Amino acid sequence: MGKTPADGPTKRKFRSRLLTWYARHKRDLPWRRTRDPYHILVSEIMLQQTQVERVIPKYHEFLRRYPTLEALARASRAQVKKSWYPLGYNIRPVHLHLVAREAVARYGGTLPDDPETLQTFKGIGRYTAGAIASFAYGKPAPILDTNVKRVLGRVFYGMDGRRVKERDLWQLAGALVPRRRAYDFNQALMDFGATWCTPRKPLCLPCPMRTFCRAYPLA
Ligand code: ADE
Repeated sequence: MGKTPADGPTKRKFRSRLLTWYARHKRDLPWRRTRDPYHILVSEIMLQQTQVERVIPKYHEFLRRYPTLEALARASRAQVKKSWYPLGYNIRPVHLHLVAREAVARYGGTLPDDPETLQTFKGIGRYTAGAIASFAYGKPAPILDTNVKRVLGRVFYGMDGRRVKERDLWQLAGALVPRRRAYDFNQALMDFGATWCTPRKPLCLPCPMRTFCRAYPLA
């Protein structure tokens, strides 16, 4: 078991301050207006290597063309790859298409709700599995991407998240995610990393975590 660097009160403070921060600063994004696991899957796959602003129009367009897992499964690989253009990293539509076919063949056209089963799909890694489990099904599954690593690394270790063991960060993310507000908490972590605790000019002065952040003040 990896070490957990924070005590209970600090974790509780992080959780409640993050949720309060999110209530004020959250971004209104199209994939936050749905709980459809397939729509969430599409958004998360698109967001893996593409900026939010570029994803938004493509997300709408792709779902107009393929509104359900069944519709996507029926299309040919060539069609799906073409519909993906110009997003790039073209292994992504291939995986997405395979997920749709497997979901139709083995799960009645739905996606499973637990992260372990989700990770048995080719192209669904631990991050995407956690995102689907928490965003579509409200499960307290952790997520960890580049932004979240940076936030947790700074606040709890006082260092660059890339220097912290991946296993320890997953364990920390799992210990932090509240059982009943997993959805908001994980979305909040994404936004906090993307817009506040940014790589180069984090907003430390007005940051709600500054009283216990191990990296404060960064600038
Ligand atoms: N990047 C990846 N997933 C995201 C989400 N749900 N909201 C905002 N940015 C994201």
